[in-house]
Amino acid sequence: EKDIVILGIETSCDETSAAVVRNGREVLSNVVSSQIESHKRFGGVVPEIASRHHVEQITYILEEALSNAAVTFQDIDAVAVTEGPGLVGALLIGVNAAKALAYAHDIPLVGVHHIAGHIYANHLVEELTFPLLTLVVSGGHTELVYMEGHGSFEVIGETRDDAVGEAYDKVARTLGLPYPGGPHIDRLAHEGEATIELPRAWLGPESYDFSFSGLKSAVINTLHNAKQRGEELLPENVAASFQESVIEVLVGKTMRAAEEKQVQRVLLAGGVAANKGLRRALKEACDKKGLSLTIPTLEYCTDNAAMIASAGTILYQSGRRSGDRLNGQPGLLL
Ligand code: KG4
Ligand code: ZN
Repeated sequence: EKDIVILGIETSCDETSAAVVRNGREVLSNVVSSQIESHKRFGGVVPEIASRHHVEQITYILEEALSNAAVTFQDIDAVAVTEGPGLVGALLIGVNAAKALAYAHDIPLVGVHHIAGHIYANHLVEELTFPLLTLVVSGGHTELVYMEGHGSFEVIGETRDDAVGEAYDKVARTLGLPYPGGPHIDRLAHEGEATIELPRAWLGPESYDFSFSGLKSAVINTLHNAKQRGEELLPENVAASFQESVIEVLVGKTMRAAEEKQVQRVLLAGGVAANKGLRRALKEACDKKGLSLTIPTLEYCTDNAAMIASAGTILYQSGRRSGDRLNGQPGLLL
């Protein structure tokens, strides 16, 4: 059979990325330009700045991805691009670059959902087998997604307020840690002990939904009250207590859903999948139940175009073609 080579493009938030992937699983190149340094002093991503960076970077990143993979447009079967969700101005840069290339080189265009991309980061590690359940944890999303086959996504639970990465970043900010705070909390949590009592947002015994804003407020209130009493709480203990609450709920709900849906395979996806405590806790829980767990390697946990190319390959093979009407869709549903 002929190889399928896909060029992937991702610009939904603050990473400009292009990648070339063969047969959905073999990464020939994956170039990521992060803008974190430009957003840091604002404590979060500034949409206007993000768009400008994407415009400045995209052509260089594309050239580098093709040259690192040692391919030309003659080798590319299709261009896959994140069409949403994300920041509209940021999405438009990637979508328009993809449309221009597809038109100029007369190759098909495939729009990809950003979360489908995060899920397919696992396909780069291991051939996916179905049915499976994915816990998606990123800066913008917290979802439990059930899949019966390639390209079929059923969201069985999602956050009602903050995404888990967002909660990490806000708690980190309260502790005076730099943006993005997730990795800092993760590191601190391993140096401290979960001595502070914090709530667990189960939202009832049946629910697969999540909520993290109450926990975030509880952390902020606890810090505030301690300060008023003249007490000094150790940041590492705050981090450990917060992380324990997050992980207990994430892992608890994932395992219950895996049982109800009778899956043998669980995937972890999204930026927060880089969290050491979460990776370990989910591994232990899956081992106990005899379920196989796949987690992307660290470079494919956060935003990248290889995951978009991988998901794009599956869509391309199933006949998906996005016409020249393709547009950035900030609120696109999975
Ligand atoms: O998937 P991603 O790169 O972007 C979105 O699509 O949102 O996720 C970024 C999020 C940020 O909130 C960041 O703080 C968080 O992932 N993150 C972590 C860790 N590494 C990144 N959160 C907790 N622990 C980590 N080790
Ligand atoms: Zn993402």
